[in-house]
Parts: sequence; C-alpha cells; structure tokens
Amino acid sequence: MQYNRKNPFPAPYCGNYRLNGDGSAKDTRHVIFSIKGSGMSYDCGDSLGVAPKNCPEMTRLLLETLGIDGDAPWTDDSGTTSVYEKLLSDFNISKVSKKFINWAARKGNYPQLEEVAADKQAMIELTEDRDIIDFLAKFPLQDVTVEELFEQLGKLQPRLYSIASSPRKHPDEIHLTVGVVTLEVDGRMRKGVCSTYLADRIADQETVPTFVQATKTFRLPDDGDTPIIMIGPGTGIAPFIAFLQDREATGSKGENWLFFGDQHEATDFLYREQLEGWKKSGLLTRLDTAFSRDQAEKIYVQNRMFEHGAEIWNWLEKGAVFYVCGDAKRMAVDVDNMLKKIIQEFGRVPLEQVEDYMKNLKSDHRYLRDVY
Ligand SMILES: Cc1cc2nc3c(=O)[nH]c(=O)nc-3n(C[C@H](O)[C@H](O)[C@H](O)COP(=O)(O)OP(=O)(O)OC[C@H]3O[C@@H](n4cnc5c(N)ncnc54)[C@H](O)[C@@H]3O)c2cc1C
Ligand SMILES: NC(=O)c1ccc[n+]([C@@H]2O[C@H](COP(=O)([O-])OP(=O)(O)OC[C@H]3O[C@@H](n4cnc5c(N)ncnc54)[C@H](OP(=O)(O)O)[C@@H]3O)[C@@H](O)[C@H]2O)c1
Repeated sequence: MQYNRKNPFPAPYCGNYRLNGDGSAKDTRHVIFSIKGSGMSYDCGDSLGVAPKNCPEMTRLLLETLGIDGDAPWTDDSGTTSVYEKLLSDFNISKVSKKFINWAARKGNYPQLEEVAADKQAMIELTEDRDIIDFLAKFPLQDVTVEELFEQLGKLQPRLYSIASSPRKHPDEIHLTVGVVTLEVDGRMRKGVCSTYLADRIADQETVPTFVQATKTFRLPDDGDTPIIMIGPGTGIAPFIAFLQDREATGSKGENWLFFGDQHEATDFLYREQLEGWKKSGLLTRLDTAFSRDQAEKIYVQNRMFEHGAEIWNWLEKGAVFYVCGDAKRMAVDVDNMLKKIIQEFGRVPLEQVEDYMKNLKSDHRYLRDVY
C-alpha cells in the first residue's frame, strides 16, 4: 500500500516525553509513532505529515457560540458521524479566513467587514493570533446552519515535523521533536492545533493519520567520509538526531560538528545525555552550545560559529556539508549572514566573491536547509 498525503497511514501512537526540565518556559516533546507492518519507509532528512484533531473544548465552545447541536448526526461521502466529530477532525476552526469574513459580512450585515477583507493590513490586525471564537465575539452571527458553517470553514491541514530518528536504528518507528505552541491572548489560552494534539490529546495506541514527506535535498552525503556541520537550535535539532543515529549505525568515518542552542542550559539542553554521550564516544567531533538566556547578553548559535570561524572555514575547505534546521524567520537569516561573514573574514574571500562562494556551496548541495 502506497501511503501519502491523500491516503495517510493510521500510525499507532506510542507516547511522548518532555525534553525540557522543570521550570523551563518551553515545552518540547519527543513523540513516537509506530509504522510496524505498514510498508511505509523513510529516510533521514524526511518529514512526517500529521493530521491533527482540534481541541475538544474549543470545538464545543464554537458550537455553543453558534447555538448548533453537536450531537446531531452528520452524513457525507465519508459516512455518518456527529456534527461535533466532523468539526473536531475536519475543519480549521482557529484561523479566520478571508472567505469566512466576507460571508460573515453578508450573513451578519457587517459592511465594514468587506472593507477589512479587502485590506491586507486590516486583515492581519483582525485575525493575527485570533481564532474564530474571538471573531464571533466581535461580530456575532444568528441562525447559522451546520451546512453554512461547514461551507465557510477551510479544511484542517496536516502539519509537517522533521523526523528525529534514523530508519537504521528505528526501522519500525518514527520519532519527532515537537515544540508545543501555546500563547495567551486576552486572558484565554490559545493552543497550536497539532503541537498540543501531539503533546496531550492522543491516547496510547490510538492511531493518527500520517505520511512521509520526502525531502528533495536535505540528505546526508552519500560518502560517509564527508565532514558535516549541523546548526540546529531548539526543535531544529530533530533531523540531526536522525543524522547522527544514522552515521553511528553505518560506522561512517566523516567528522560531525553540531551547534545547538536554546534558552537555558539547566532546563533546555534537549537530548543532552545523548549528545554528550556521542561527544564522548567520538561520533560528535565537536559539540558547541549557545544558551541564550543564561547571561545578560543573548548568545546565539551564530555567535558560537563566529568564535570558531577559522575552524568552520577549514571544514568548508575540506568539503564539509553545512546544514541548518529550525526557525526560518530569524535564526536561519542570521546564520546565513554569519556564514557569509566567516567566508569573508576567515577565508579571506573578497566581499564581491562571497555570494559566488555561497552559490557554489548551494549548487554543490553543500549548504542545505530545513527551515520553517
Ligand atoms: C518542513 C517543516 C518541518 C517542521 N519541523 C518541525 C519540527 O521538527 N518540530 C516542530 O515543533 N515544528 C516543526 N515544524 C512546524 C510545524 O509544522 C507546525 O507549524 C508547528 O508545530 C505549529 O503547528 P500547530 O498546529 O501546533 O499550530 P497552529 O494551530 O498552526 O498555530 C500556530 C500559530 O500560532 C502562532 N504562533 C505563536 N507562537 C508560535 C510559536 N512559538 N511557534 C509557532 N507558531 C506560533 C503562529 O502565528 C501561528 O499562526 C515544521 C514545519 C515544516 C514546514
Ligand atoms: N511565530 C512565532 O511567533 C514563533 C516564535 C518562536 C518560534 N517560532 C517557531 O517555533 C519553532 C522553533 O521553536 P523552538 O522553540 O524550537 O526554538 P526557537 O524559538 O527557535 O529557540 C531556540 C533558540 O534559538 C534562539 N534564537 C532566537 N532568535 C534567534 C536568532 N535570530 N538566531 C539564532 N538563535 C535565535 C532562542 O533564543 P531566545 O528565545 O532567548 O531569543 C533559543 O535560544 C519554529 O517553528 C519557529 O518558526 C515561531
């Protein structure tokens, strides 16, 4: 059986454990699924697509707000279930879309909403970090039928997670490193749909629709002797756990250098025991950490890169592949700039040739990113 986004595999959930220590401001989980007997295969660098369910309280609150009976039966092409179950599993009830706002403008006779929907900035102001329940509190709607509601809501989309296991070590399992997204807005806790589902709302052995999203380029080098540099702060560590497990399993001789960072060493040094064990065994040639909030000044992975700039340049010149995983908006941009600075300062590459050096790294598949 070929499993994919349209035909996901119901993977038995094997549980999760928290990677942060007590007192941490963060909640990062190591999550495990079984793929035993599925015929589903994966490789290091791939991601797992997970189809989540909404939060039950929020689903009930939405039905209550609209005066819709959640226990009523609902029948469509996929069979008969309750309105509540359908809303829980199939529809996006967190993000308010343009389509929904335009419909609410007509349904509730709110002409000002049509102007909002036509103005990008006004849309951001109305919807950023706000869900449909917030929207309905501002713009109440009467006499909404289930059919109308389902017609206006978008589909609940699967989320992707970088796989944190090697099939050579865990052929029957897929492991993930999930940052649990929660934020408080106007006194009500908002929960990221999939990260909180993975952390708290799946019973043991319950199955979850999943599929492997193969990477096109984010792979270990074919030659196990090639050195690799991995920049993976926060959940960005995930694929590098897979890479290191894989290089350990294959007995690859290539050098491995990992940069990891998070808020506090005492509580947020994810996979500390494993990483320090690999440092001790020699699998990790180098392990450099940046704990951003353990001192007055922020220290990030790119600061550590600069401290070891001459060595990074040496590794690049001996053919190392440079990998980055994690936050796209800030970290990956700053790491990119730091890499350029290192090439210029430590490699003595003239500024006007730095872009060419970077282009060559990319075209040689030696600068690879998995950022989100
Ligand atoms: C290729 C790829 C690989 C990924 N790998 C991983 C991984 O290994 N581990 C991992 O944890 N995630 C990973 N992600 C991100 C993941 O797919 C989800 O986007 C993330 O878990 C949030 O989804 P959610 O359903 O919990 O939140 P949603 O319900 O989608 O809500 C997120 C909303 O909360 C807001 N928000 C506020 N604070 C945060 C915050 N700290 N983080 C995110 N959103 C915030 C955002 O504006 C966003 O609108 C990856 C994404 C991609 C595309
Ligand atoms: N949408 C949002 O508002 C939002 C916010 C945060 C994270 N995210 C998402 O959360 C996921 C990763 O989160 P995570 O908790 O695993 O890790 P993270 O938020 O990326 O944090 C990991 C470490 O990176 C540090 N960091 C912050 N800015 C950085 C920068 N410019 N350069 C280098 N390091 C930087 C953090 O320091 P400090 O925390 O001390 O600054 C922390 O020590 C990604 O999906 C990311 O996009 C989204």
